[in-house]
Amino acid sequence: MQYFFLLLLLMEVYAKSNSSPCETGCECRGEVKMTICVRAFFTQLPSSIPPSTELLDLSENQLTFIPEKSLQMVRKLRVLLLHDNNISAVADGAFSQLEFLQKLDLSRNRICSLGEGFSLGLGALRELLLSENQLRSLDSKTFMHLDGLQRLNLTDNAIHSIQMRSFGSMSTLRQLHLEGNKISSLNNGIFSMLRSLEVLNLQGNRITRTEEGVFKPLTNIALLNLAHNHLSTVYFKTFLSIHTYSTHILLEGNPWNCDCDLQREFRKLKSVQRLFLDDYHNLSCSAPPELENYHLMDVDTELCIAETVTVLVITVTVVTTVLAAMVMAERKRKKKKNSKHWTQQGDMSDESEN
Ligand SMILES: *[C@@H]1O[C@H](CO)[C@@H](O)[C@H](O)[C@H]1NC(C)=O
Ligand SMILES: *[C@@H]1O[C@H](CO)[C@@H](O)[C@H](O)[C@H]1NC(C)=O
Ligand SMILES: *[C@@H]1O[C@H](CO)[C@@H](O)[C@H](O)[C@H]1NC(C)=O
Repeated sequence: MQYFFLLLLLMEVYAKSNSSPCETGCECRGEVKMTICVRAFFTQLPSSIPPSTELLDLSENQLTFIPEKSLQMVRKLRVLLLHDNNISAVADGAFSQLEFLQKLDLSRNRICSLGEGFSLGLGALRELLLSENQLRSLDSKTFMHLDGLQRLNLTDNAIHSIQMRSFGSMSTLRQLHLEGNKISSLNNGIFSMLRSLEVLNLQGNRITRTEEGVFKPLTNIALLNLAHNHLSTVYFKTFLSIHTYSTHILLEGNPWNCDCDLQREFRKLKSVQRLFLDDYHNLSCSAPPELENYHLMDVDTELCIAETVTVLVITVTVVTTVLAAMVMAERKRKKKKNSKHWTQQGDMSDESEN
């Protein structure tokens, strides 16, 4: 039995040493369609990767830079894993030879910007992971060539600005993950073209403002997550412009200003059949101070009471004033009439005296 295992081991070693060159530190598997070089202390891309490789795993190394056309010897590549390195720069056209690449994982690196040519040649890419980097802004050129992308993960970067049409080529994108960034406002046009988008996750940003038409292009959106932002109020029309069969909207963890306007906007929102406010029961107030930490749901019926009372008081005051004025006017009229009467009588008496 032991000999049998030893024999197997020997055969494997023999097979490896006999296969096409596999760099030390790497392991070449599956008739060399997979080249695994995890934790191999590479500081540069290895030079001899078997050309038949379709999956290349270079995660957990110490790569710092991806030069132009760096992987042109592995043109059949479908999956490229570069996560958990120390990459701070990616040259324009770095992946431009990889026309079959479907998944590119660059998460947990130190990338703070991507050039205009980053996406060159990546028309077949379906999934791009850039989470846990230091990206600060997205512009209209960065993702220009990603026509086939379905999932984009930009979670936990430092993105504060998104230019118009940054996602302009992505008419097939289904999931966009932008949670944990520094976005403060959502302007019209940033999501234009995303007509296949099903999931838009914006949780944990700093959004205070959303322009009325910003979600309008999202005609397939099923989940819109705006939880844990800085929204204090909501505009019914912003969400009404979403024309889908059903969309779930998450809004908890925002500092709601619980006034009558908010109550009114939410009442209208809740009445739209195709929109589902899944965490409405969980929304809590930050203002006014006397309602801090109250659940909106527990106080919403009362928020307009003060307003109603004010309206009532004003109405009553106005009515009273008008009535009083009318009464006064009437009295004055009578008095005038009477005094005229008296004067006439006086005149008459004067005459009679004479
Ligand atoms: C990553 O690169 C930076 C320079 O860009 C260097 O200071 C740092 O020591 C590197 N970290 C590791 C873990 O190699
Ligand atoms: C996006 O990236 C984050 C951070 O790396 C990860 O936790 C999350 O699961 C990813 N989301 C998807 C949908 O892949
Ligand atoms: C939301 O509700 C769930 C239970 O339904 C609870 O566990 C969670 O802490 C709530 N979150 C907030 C922010 O209130």
